[in-house]
Amino acid sequence: MWATGTVYAGGMIDLPPGYSIRHTVEGDHLTVVEAIGRWWDTPNRAMLGLLMPRLFFQFFTGTSWIVDNEEGEIGAFLIGFRSQDDPQVCYIHFVGVDPDLRRTGIARQLYLLFFETMKDLGCSQVRAITGSFNRRSQAFHAALGFEAHGDREIDGVLAYPDYDGPGEPRVAFSRGL
Ligand SMILES: CC(C)(COP(=O)(O)OP(=O)(O)OC[C@H]1O[C@@H](n2cnc3c(N)ncnc32)[C@H](O)[C@@H]1OP(=O)(O)O)[C@@H](O)C(=O)NCCC(=O)NCCS
Repeated sequence: MWATGTVYAGGMIDLPPGYSIRHTVEGDHLTVVEAIGRWWDTPNRAMLGLLMPRLFFQFFTGTSWIVDNEEGEIGAFLIGFRSQDDPQVCYIHFVGVDPDLRRTGIARQLYLLFFETMKDLGCSQVRAITGSFNRRSQAFHAALGFEAHGDREIDGVLAYPDYDGPGEPRVAFSRGL
């Protein structure tokens, strides 16, 4: 577990007082699914829980992190992994930050930690997706240097229709490492 100010992969994690960062464990699954239910603004709330199956907390913990405090309250998380098919590519499945802790650089630091970790493993590209409606996430990914991809305009941005199922358009992001 790394506390605030701990050096990681050449950088520093700077978290709010009382919070620290560690890799996820299987017991974090329900906590994260509940946080997603509270933290995401999405038109399709019914699908939210289904997007984070338990397997992410069984098989991808070495490249996933959670930020929580001494009371066990979750502040943020990042779930990511390396591609099985193309080891050059890694993928961030979900990132989330407690609304009360947003715009303090927590997600940026989680992304930079992920980038450094995956570069050390030999990855040269990182990918992610987000909802076509999700302006906050789109602004965040643009700020982190991601290129946005889509093949038509949906909700005012370039996106792929039915990307994650019928009526589930997504913007696809990629960035070199
Ligand atoms: C998207 C999200 C993870 C960003 O987390 P965060 O910790 O607030 O982001 P950071 O503070 O690290 O922001 C880094 C940069 O991204 C950009 N950014 C982040 N949130 C933004 C917003 N709401 N509007 C515009 N730009 C934003 C800014 O450039 C910011 O830098 P700055 O604050 O110095 O201007 C957070 O808003 C969130 O949890 N949203 C709900 C879940 C979600 O949509 N996740 C992404 C899809 S999986």
